[in-house]
Amino acid sequence: MNIPTFPDPNSRKNAIAENTWKWEKRIADLYSRMTLEEKIGQMNMSWFPAFKNEEESYRRVQQGEIGAIILSDTPWPGNGDTSGVDVDYYNRLQQTAVKKSRLGIPLLFGRDIIHGHRTIAPIPLAQAASFDPTVAEAAAELSAQEATADGVKWTFAPMLDICRDPRWGRVIEPFGEDPYLASQMAVAAVHGYQGDDPAAPDRMLACAKHFAGYGYAEGGRDYDAVEISRFTLQNTVLRPFLAAVKEGKAASIMTAFHVNGGVPASADEYLLKDTLRGVWNFDGMVVSDFGSVDEIETHGAAPDARDAARRAVGAGVDMEMCDLLYPKYLAELYREGKIDDAVLERAVKAVLRGKFRAGLFENPYIDTERRHQVMFTAENRATVRRLAASGMVLARNRNHLLPLDPKRPVKIALMGPMAHEKRSLLGAWNGSGKTAETLSIAEAFRQYPSQASLLMTDSQLADDQLALVRRADIVICCVGESQERTGESHALAKLQLPAGQEELIEAVGEWGKPLIVVCCSGRPLPMTSAERYADAILYAWHGGTETAAAIADVIFGLREPTGRFPLTVPRHAGQIPLYYGRKIPGKVTKPFLAERNYSFYDDEPLTPLYPFGYGLSYTEFQLSSARLKSTSIRRGESNEIAVTCSNIGKRSGTVVIQCYLRDPRAAYARPGKELIGFRKVRLQAGENTVVTFSIDEAAMGYYDENGQRLLDPGLFQVGVGLDSTTSLCLEFQVC
Ligand code: NOJ
Repeated sequence: MNIPTFPDPNSRKNAIAENTWKWEKRIADLYSRMTLEEKIGQMNMSWFPAFKNEEESYRRVQQGEIGAIILSDTPWPGNGDTSGVDVDYYNRLQQTAVKKSRLGIPLLFGRDIIHGHRTIAPIPLAQAASFDPTVAEAAAELSAQEATADGVKWTFAPMLDICRDPRWGRVIEPFGEDPYLASQMAVAAVHGYQGDDPAAPDRMLACAKHFAGYGYAEGGRDYDAVEISRFTLQNTVLRPFLAAVKEGKAASIMTAFHVNGGVPASADEYLLKDTLRGVWNFDGMVVSDFGSVDEIETHGAAPDARDAARRAVGAGVDMEMCDLLYPKYLAELYREGKIDDAVLERAVKAVLRGKFRAGLFENPYIDTERRHQVMFTAENRATVRRLAASGMVLARNRNHLLPLDPKRPVKIALMGPMAHEKRSLLGAWNGSGKTAETLSIAEAFRQYPSQASLLMTDSQLADDQLALVRRADIVICCVGESQERTGESHALAKLQLPAGQEELIEAVGEWGKPLIVVCCSGRPLPMTSAERYADAILYAWHGGTETAAAIADVIFGLREPTGRFPLTVPRHAGQIPLYYGRKIPGKVTKPFLAERNYSFYDDEPLTPLYPFGYGLSYTEFQLSSARLKSTSIRRGESNEIAVTCSNIGKRSGTVVIQCYLRDPRAAYARPGKELIGFRKVRLQAGENTVVTFSIDEAAMGYYDENGQRLLDPGLFQVGVGLDSTTSLCLEFQVC
């Protein structure tokens, strides 16, 4: 009944796909001339704090002890102020590697270029909210342009952890809860970083991380253990990674920190050997996360650090990020026969392959001129301003309060803790972005060409701010969270605004003036007072360098907020995990129990505050005449669903049309609903269009625990709508 097939790797044309064998002769030749110590050197990533002084760094590079260097001086550089980039020093180190080391193998410089290097793009969660893969591609592309000009040829991004828990601080970094959306974004981001050829001067190697399941950390607590079945791994967690590897040709993968079912991710043979290298045929580099090899022992899964190193190498971690266990133990482990020749060879060759792919053997040095031309250009700033607006989610807009007409001479009270904030707008991974060059919302509104007069105070006192409300025609209350509440090593137990902000919104709301609440955060925060008092609610996220300007663009209607929630927004943290693609439970969903009005909770509705995929436009759209091409298809054939979309509002606008499917007669219980396609469409007022979605094997099939494709014949249900509450009202059979 099941058809095991593996989908054709729908490869983009690119150098990695085409040149699979191009470097192999040179790699084999180099490998044959390397000493054991030089091989282990290539498997070692170091960082500057590991060197006592500059002289020592040259000496160790010359001896071939180091394969890569991370440009960071802390193991969690997000949020932290990392020291500046010193390209002359990097060039001197590279000269030492190329000209003075025995085999002249260049160094690879890596850095976390997560959402921008010097010009900062929106956090990836906000990119996902755009439901537009070209947004992720553009953000990655400009990141690569700038970072490579500082000598960074390897980014530790994109982060592809499916995450269904907004308490987790790192929810800012991946692309939300849905494997289809995340896969589309993954391919686009990898292509943005790597381009058609990562060896190009303005492109770099991508690193899909964290392999795999880190986003399921129990309780949203960073680094905590997970319990994910192989079925869920294959059908949810691994899908964006598979897309990044197969379609995106991601050059590298990073393992994660956590333990799944007793197995630390950096020692996980099922993931690294059987799946990544076995079924997926990945031939790129696998690097550990900072400390994750050492932590195999901390987790209690190895008797000592030496054995932790043995387990990681054996499972397939080619390069160790700064733990220093490989340089310490691999030689003796090898000599004792505890590491196979084949394992060592595969690891070292993977690292060399990465360096060839990055073009380092041809162009090892940083062009120190280019950095003066490409950093923080007006063009890059304009790009991130556009990207920031495209991911903003308009959750409410009573009486079409937004957009405000810039020609109307109204008095706007602009207030709230975020009105004067700058650093937080950049988001957790600010790279070399500078707070001083970031506008606050207050400054952006002051500069915006509008006839409105702004009532503002620099005072942080609530009574001073509230005094503005009485005189105002409209109030914009800017709330949110600091970037310090987000990112690595941060988590919330209470999913709410920071202390005092709910009270502020309530106090403003009691005046009864038209109220716009703008929330700049790294996660979708439920805001009880905004729900009660606000006329308009805009989730603007940590949108990078141009967040503030983009907020002004959106408020005054120069741009639309075209984002949709990439993550279900719970009413309360107690509902978590709450995501649209849950399996259908028994009992409570039985039709004959409907009159009992069954809910899962006695004290809270089951429904979210806002569903996945939800967001408003400045105009209104209607979908009609959804129709299937066929009510019965054969296995191997595709079906198609078409829908008419009409802009029934008074202005042009953009809508995200979403297609969902269910396979209710499968061999395994599959999700109650799965996103299988989305289309972002712009229509003039009164305009209609017909949008079609193909329902092919990729949409209907799924994976078994071993990564083999299955497709069960029988009933399929499908629907098209404007968010994940879409009803699956059309049915067809696969015979
Ligand atoms: C730890 C983080 O988990 C990882 O994502 C990052 O790339 C490394 N630190 C290096 O900064």
